[in-house]
Amino acid sequence: MSIVVLISGSGTNLQAILDAGIPIKFVMSDNHNAYGLERAEKRNIPTLSQPRLKSLEKSVTKLCKANNVDLIVLAGFMRLLTPGFVSKWKNKIINIHPSLLPAFKGAHAIKEAWEYGVKVTGVTVHYVNEQMDEGDIIAQKIVNITKKDTLETFEEKIHKVEHKLYPTIIKKLLNDQNTN
Ligand code: GRF
Repeated sequence: MSIVVLISGSGTNLQAILDAGIPIKFVMSDNHNAYGLERAEKRNIPTLSQPRLKSLEKSVTKLCKANNVDLIVLAGFMRLLTPGFVSKWKNKIINIHPSLLPAFKGAHAIKEAWEYGVKVTGVTVHYVNEQMDEGDIIAQKIVNITKKDTLETFEEKIHKVEHKLYPTIIKKLLNDQNTN
């Protein structure tokens, strides 16, 4: 029962997964400078960074097969995985997105929801398909935007919900796989 985590940046969701005690086999990144790599190294988790997407995908496949990995977890991974990779790992790749999909897809979901003036948005965990921020929805949590919020406090609320929801869902999926 284990996962790999793919990141591109700061890795606060990775940190939440680490803090929840979920066993991570590897942390992989397309970005050598991703701070999340340091978070993993501090916990003695092997890391690998590879800016070339195809090479990264090859390494992920190899390591997942060699280590019986159950789930590939995207946590702030900013690249679109190739259709070949996605079909190989159908229903084994999940992502977290800071909106109630299908609203506000893309890299600027929080800012766009704020600028649009929505009163209700949230967080989505979903299976990954070959499109950006698409695939079957696993879980969603609502976040309300109130008059008191600023973009900063709203952003904090979103991340707080993410950091609770993602580990909970990952644990559930791993348990379900174990009992099937
Ligand atoms: C999160 O908001 C996540 O929903 C989105 O990218 C952000 C990653 O943040 N996919 P972090 O690297 O986990 O801090």
